[in-house]
Amino acid sequence: MKQHKIQIDFKEYQSIDEFSEKEQKVIRVALKSLKNAYAPYSHFQVGAAVLLENNEIIIGNNQENAAYPSGLCAERVALFYANAKYPNSPVSLLVVAAGQNNVLTNEPATPCGACRQVILETELRFKKPIKIIMVGQNKIFAFNSVKALLPMSFDPDLIENENN
Ligand code: THU
Repeated sequence: MKQHKIQIDFKEYQSIDEFSEKEQKVIRVALKSLKNAYAPYSHFQVGAAVLLENNEIIIGNNQENAAYPSGLCAERVALFYANAKYPNSPVSLLVVAAGQNNVLTNEPATPCGACRQVILETELRFKKPIKIIMVGQNKIFAFNSVKALLPMSFDPDLIENENN
């Protein structure tokens, strides 16, 4: 038997001023986009913004449904729309923020498992890591790739090896 331990690296910031001008712009867009969330069931608004390599910024916010599982998270709304509109432009940055009653969460909201899987697919698709910034009122987290958020993720190369 061998015991393994997985460590993840991420940075914590106190203010959006610590980010580059471009990143601050994407952060502001994400904060704005959570105001347009459709969240009549959870009353929990999530906003996302993605920056593409072609410099476009695409927004997303959570879109809920009376049949709960039919709704979609902000991150996936943004990524699917970005990939639908610009299928050849890699995603460089994803920013997420969440709040209730117009108040941002104290702790940064971290993407759910399904969203992490979709972020991973986007990284693999474009062979480029996506920086992820999660904005809370008291702190901001930054990850250089979704791989840290999804350790031991499924490796699609395994499928190819099986078939070859
Ligand atoms: N939600 C997101 O938009 N992103 C996440 O990563 C987690 C949760 C949404 C889904 C639902 O509309 C609400 O937050 C409460 O779960």
